[in-house]
Amino acid sequence: LPQAVAGQSVTLTLADEIDVSRGDVLAAATDPAAVADQFACHLVWMADEPMLPGRPYLLKIGARTVNATVAQPKYKVNVNTLEHTAARTLDLNEIGVCNLNLDRAVPFDPYTLNRHTGGFILIDRFTQATVAAGLLHFALRRADNVHWQAVEVDKTARARHKGQRPALLWFTGLSGAGKSTIANLVEKKLHDQGYHTYLLDGDNVRHGLNKDLGFTDADRVENIRRVAEVAKLMVDAGIIVLASFISPFRAERQLARDLLDDGEFLEIHVDAPLQVAETRDRKGLYAKARAGQLTNFTGIDHLHHTGILTPPETP
Ligand code: ADX
Repeated sequence: LPQAVAGQSVTLTLADEIDVSRGDVLAAATDPAAVADQFACHLVWMADEPMLPGRPYLLKIGARTVNATVAQPKYKVNVNTLEHTAARTLDLNEIGVCNLNLDRAVPFDPYTLNRHTGGFILIDRFTQATVAAGLLHFALRRADNVHWQAVEVDKTARARHKGQRPALLWFTGLSGAGKSTIANLVEKKLHDQGYHTYLLDGDNVRHGLNKDLGFTDADRVENIRRVAEVAKLMVDAGIIVLASFISPFRAERQLARDLLDDGEFLEIHVDAPLQVAETRDRKGLYAKARAGQLTNFTGIDHLHHTGILTPPETP
C-alpha cells in the first residue's frame, strides 16, 4: 500500500528494532502525541454505585488499560438546564467535570480533536463492569512540573540499619471485633523482641490527620487512602507498621496492597461475627446505632444498601 487511511487495518514493518506492543501509538515525528498522567475530563457516571473520589478504577483508552483515580468533581452539569452545581460524587447518569490521576502516562488527544485518543471508559476492578464513560479535555500542567526526587539512602539501607524486613500488617474487621486489641499485643511482642514498629489506629488517626473525615462511603475511601499513603512512607522508612481500621471496602485494601512491594502487605481479617462485636460494645456505639442516634454505623446501617456486610472476605 502506498498509503493507508483511518479505518483500514494495515501491517507495518519497522526499520528499527524497538519494542512495540498493543496500545502503543505511532505518531508523525514532526507532530508527536502529547503524553500525560493527569487530566481534566468530563465523566458520565453509569453505575448504580456512586463514584467514589480516590478509589482506583481501571481506565481503558484505545487499546491501553491503566489504573486511575478520580478526584472530587469540580462540578456536575444539570442535563436539562446545563447549570453547574457543586458535587462531592456522581450518581447514576450524572455528568461531572473532574480531574483524573493515572498510574502511568498515556499518549492522548483532547476529545474535541480525536474521539479515539480522547475518549475513555472506567471499569470496576472487581466486577469488571463499566462504570463511566469520559472525555479528556487537557493535561494538567502540574503533571509535567513535579518530578520524583532521587534519594541516596533507600528503603533497603534503612531496613538493614534496623535489622528487619519492613512490612504492613493490616487489620480489618467490624468495630469491636478486636482489631486494635490484637494489633496492640502483636506490636508489644515485636517491640519486646527489638523490632522497630508503629501502630496506626483508626480512632487515633481520626483525631489528627483525618479529623476532617466522617463515615460516608466517600470519607471512608479517603480515610483509607491517606492511611495507606502514610503506611507506605513508614514502610519506606524501614518500619514494621500495624494498621487497625474497619476498612470495609475491598477496593481500598487493594489500594494499600498495591502501594507496597510484593510480600510487604499482610491482610488480617479479625473475623468476629456481628453479634459478638455488638455484645461487647465497649464504646456503646452499637447501642447508639440501634437507637438511631448514630448513622452509617458499620454492620448496622452501613453497607446493607450495597449488599456487602463487612468485610467481605480474606484473600
Ligand atoms: S473506616 O471504616 O473508615 O475504616 P475507622 O477504622 O477509621 O473506620 O474508624 C472506626 C472507628 O470510628 C470505630 O472504632 C468507632 O469507634 C468509630 N465510629 C464512629 N462512628 C462510626 C460509624 N458510623 N461507623 C463505624 N465506626 C464509627
